[in-house]
Parts: sequence; structure tokens; C-alpha cells
Amino acid sequence: AIPADIVTLADYERRAVHHMPAASWRHIQSGADREITLAANIAQFDALQLLPRVLADLSGGSTAIRLLGMDLAAPMLLAPLAYHRLAHPDGELAVARAAAALGTGMVVSTLSSFTLEEIALASRAASRELGRDPAPLWFQLYLQDDRERSAALVRRAEAAGYDAIVLTVDASLKRSGFTLPAGIAAANLRGLPSRSQTGIAGGPILFGTPLIDAAPTWDDLAWLRQATTLPLIVKGILAADDARLAIEHGADGIIVSNHGGRVMDGLPTPLSVLPGIAEAVGGRAAVLVDGGIRQGTDIAKALALGADAVLVGRPQLHALAVAGVIGVAHVLHILRAEYELAQAQLGCRTPAGISRAHVLDAQNGGK
Ligand code: FNR
Repeated sequence: AIPADIVTLADYERRAVHHMPAASWRHIQSGADREITLAANIAQFDALQLLPRVLADLSGGSTAIRLLGMDLAAPMLLAPLAYHRLAHPDGELAVARAAAALGTGMVVSTLSSFTLEEIALASRAASRELGRDPAPLWFQLYLQDDRERSAALVRRAEAAGYDAIVLTVDASLKRSGFTLPAGIAAANLRGLPSRSQTGIAGGPILFGTPLIDAAPTWDDLAWLRQATTLPLIVKGILAADDARLAIEHGADGIIVSNHGGRVMDGLPTPLSVLPGIAEAVGGRAAVLVDGGIRQGTDIAKALALGADAVLVGRPQLHALAVAGVIGVAHVLHILRAEYELAQAQLGCRTPAGISRAHVLDAQNGGK
């Protein structure tokens, strides 16, 4: 049972620290360097204010959206995270069941601690048991050292019934000093040699090393586009020009993201670049955003600045650590209920009704 004093996502975060080994907790929570970007992601959501509209007719309204041909109960999905078993022995299986129960899309990481097939089975079984339509499942791809290995992962995702491929492009140069606890591994990559990894923070240089030489380029996106007929979403875009290039190379959607502040410090927050990117995309592709979503009003703020939907990262792990599948379902319910209230307070019958006119910031106060 969920303790009665857990009411918000912050309550889960406060408790989660007591449910995980210290090293895993630090790994999950941390950002790059001085963690300025990590903090700014959240601070910028907090600084933005929503402008409610009263007495609007909300009859027949709903939080549901259709995204890339898929139905979502609300404009949010679960972001891809590596190794959910760091938080709970049931790991991704618990998250997939909770997401299926709540009609929430889940993006499964290449670095999941159960196989993508096991996760898909858990999701579909939960939907069946509850008599619900299957919830969208997307597979997040980290390109492997050779294309045949990447293609093999994509084919496995297709065969397992995944609905879309998310290519993460912002983390190929990321360094981490974290060592996985015994018994937790990248289940999808079992038996494969690990990717070129040189060094950790403060370690050897990048240029002239395999890390740079093997790093993906736009050619790889073009290759991936012809390797699958599934919708293709590119994750980790911060420049409007890169959003345009992604679309030119065949992306059906982009995820505006600084990887939760984990890759490099000093990057823009997703919210600060979102309006420019949404304008550059101009409706030609779906625009998603992640980094710092911690309550339902944050979803409304992201939509106001041009997103079609958001992804939620670390809160999955907080809920999973504290209360397993029930905790994740609870967090999804909290977010959905908070978002629903926000949408109604803004006078919007549908998520699409939320616009720039619904937010003000310290600069343009009230105008
Ligand atoms: C991530 N993220 C990530 N992204 C991805 O594409 N593949 C991955 O395997 C991972 N793994 C991962 C592990 C952990 C512990 C974290 C915290 C993050 C990034 C993730 O998808 C997302 O961009 C951020 O987590 C969003 O920020 P919030 O919601 O955590 O603030």
C-alpha cells in the first residue's frame, strides 16, 4: 500500500534515497560537472507561470492525444532510462505494466536490464488482463559499433511489436564512472562486445580515440530511416537547425532534450529552445520535450511553449524504488490528474488548445 503522506512526485523522490544503494542513487540523480544544467531544467519550469482562463465551456473535453498515429491517455510518455533494476528487482517489467495500466507510452532503452522482448510481453499481458488496448511501446536505439548490430536491434524491436524507434543522438560522447552492481547488465546486448568506451570524467581526451571515430553522424540517421518503416524519432535535439536536419533525414518526430543534464553542463534548458524549435519544425514532425517534468502543470507549460507531448525520466525510478509497480502507476496517475486540472484551469477542452497565451514569465509579466 502507498503511505498516505505520498501525494506528489517530490514525495517519492524524498523517500527513494532510502530504497537504493548510495552509488546507484547518485548515478540516477546526478548531472554533468557542477550540475548547473540539471538544476536549470527544473528551475525554468518553476519560473514559468500559467495564466488560467475562467468560465470556458469544457464539456466533452479530454486529456487524450493522438501522436504519430498512436493514442495516449495524456500528452506524456516514459523516457528511456538505462537499468531500471537499479531501483527495483522488477525493473522495466514493473514500469511496463504500470504504463499499460494507465495507457501511457513507454520508451524502452537499449540499455534496459530486461530484454526488449520480455518488456513487451509484460506490457501486452497487463493490457490484456485489464481489457485495455495495448499501450504504445517505443524502442530507444543507441547505435552500435557496426550497422548490422544496430539493424539487429531494430529488427528485434519490430518483431516484438514496438511501435516506433527513438534514436538518441546526444550521448555517444558521454562519460560515466559508474560501475553496475553485480547481476544487473544490458540485457539486450548480452553476448556482444561492449561499445567503444574510453575514459571517464577527467580521463583521456576524445579526439583521436575510438569514441570519436565510432560516433554516429547524419549518414547513420539516413541509413536508419531506410532500415525501418516504423516512425522514427530523434532524441537529444537543442538547435533549431538540427531539428530541420533531422526532418530532412527522415525523422517523424524529435525530442528536445539535454539528456536530463547528464551529458554536458552549460547546455540550454529544453524549455528555452523549445519555442524556436517548434517554429522551425512548423508541424512537419512531432515535437516532444524532456528534462525536469515533475508535476502535471509542467506538462501544460511544455505544451504552451510548443510541445506535442513530454517525457518523464527520473520520477519513474523514484516511484519504482519506493513502491514498485504500484508506485509507478501512482506517479502516472498523479501526473495525469495534475495535468487534467491544469488543462481545465487554462480553459482548454483538449491539449491542443494550450498555447503561448497561457504562460507568462518574469520578463513579459501579464502582457
Ligand atoms: C537517462 N536518459 C537516457 N536516455 C536515453 O535515450 N537512453 C538511456 O538509456 C538513458 N538512460 C538514462 C539513465 C538515467 C539514470 C537517467 C536519469 C537518464 C535520459 C532520459 O531519457 C531523459 O532524457 C532524462 O532523464 C529527462 O530528464 P528528467 O525527467 O530525468 O529530469
